[in-house]
Amino acid sequence: MTMTRRDALAGSLLAATALVGVAPASAAAANSVGSETLPPPTHTAAEAGTASPTPAAEPVCLTDFEPLAQAKMSHLAWEYVNSAAADENTVRWNREAYQKIRIKPRILVGVDQLDTRVTLFGHEHAFPILLAPTAEQELTHPEGELATARGANAAETSFVLSSFSTKSIEDVAAVAKLPFWFQLYAQSDHEFTRHLVERAQAAGAKALCLTVDTPVAGARNREERIHFALPPGLTLPNLSGYKALGADNSGAHRPTGRDIFSKTLDAALSWKDVEWLRSFAKIPLLLKGVLNPDDAERAVQAGVAGLIVSNHGGRNLDTVPATIDALPLVAERVAGRIPVLCDGGIRRGTDVLKALALGANAVLIGRPYVYGLAVGGEAGVAKVLTILQREFQQAMALTGRTKVSEIDKSVIWG
Ligand SMILES: Cc1cc2nc3c(=O)[nH]c(=O)nc-3n(C[C@H](O)[C@H](O)[C@H](O)COP(=O)(O)O)c2cc1C
Repeated sequence: MTMTRRDALAGSLLAATALVGVAPASAAAANSVGSETLPPPTHTAAEAGTASPTPAAEPVCLTDFEPLAQAKMSHLAWEYVNSAAADENTVRWNREAYQKIRIKPRILVGVDQLDTRVTLFGHEHAFPILLAPTAEQELTHPEGELATARGANAAETSFVLSSFSTKSIEDVAAVAKLPFWFQLYAQSDHEFTRHLVERAQAAGAKALCLTVDTPVAGARNREERIHFALPPGLTLPNLSGYKALGADNSGAHRPTGRDIFSKTLDAALSWKDVEWLRSFAKIPLLLKGVLNPDDAERAVQAGVAGLIVSNHGGRNLDTVPATIDALPLVAERVAGRIPVLCDGGIRRGTDVLKALALGANAVLIGRPYVYGLAVGGEAGVAKVLTILQREFQQAMALTGRTKVSEIDKSVIWG
């Protein structure tokens, strides 16, 4: 965000409550989301035959998108996106833990000028908020990851593209106007993994996020109950040519989610692979899925460029702690040697503020933008982001913090 835009945003934050007041120029007017208008108030979940509460006519916060998305999504897609592992304790704790943290404001600071920018790996970001990698977005919207990339452009946000995207790295890269990162599910076939990394680099990815919390799939009971399978016609183009998948990626065969996972996760993944990836990767390597401070220390020693404190949105190992509870321990151990990012349960601008206060350099959101994608395609993604950005500005202003570097532990009560 430039000085001019920052001033405009800060000014409008104080002057207006309408979303349009703080949306980037490319985003939409107050009661539509760009080219796609939100469903009319009559489009209720009840009419769609679901048990969700009646959706708000116009989403004004991230959780408002959930019932709207459920009403639009197939049952299969909803169960896939919304579900988590086993008894779904961790996914609930991710939210509850943020809600328990109290904020300590400062008054009379003068908050007419807000600077929300952060720099990560040499690139400036308008806000300390990115889109987390989420697989198989065509389940949610026909334009899938292309719509997400356009929505991210409109909200001046970087996104992390999943290895398991339903649009190819190259097609998504062609749409992205800001630096994007690539999430890597390393394959046991090293030749193929190297090929994937080189494809991402050639397409212009600015960082590589190796997912380290998924050597095997978790107990995704809700996916199992619906016999989750990629619908006909959906493929994972980044994996095309991968011999281990055989016919599974051709579209002719309908693999179950488990089939895909059992063939594309590497249970042998170890620190040796981190070393191997570092030996040829030309872009910064981050580890995604770190919770244990001892692993964080080991990662710093291994020379990785950054960490993402994540429990995969509670989708892998139920009853691991909320990420906001793990974050301070990881950040304390890392002690500023490399950037630490955090995801999981972030739904409010105050959550972003709390994560930064407890040691994150930036945060990522997952499900909320997938719901935005379901509701309004690219404009829905942009709207989710502009709402969160506006709330973050409000949280900064109302705690008396005018720049991101001023957000530290002193903003937490007690
Ligand atoms: C539908 C869905 C698909 C996901 N796919 C991936 C993936 O392909 N790779 C990955 O590293 N994490 C994946 N994640 C985890 C997210 O990157 C992120 O850690 C999580 O969604 C953050 O929690 P939140 O949804 O509460 O914001 C996925 C999450 C969801 C909800």
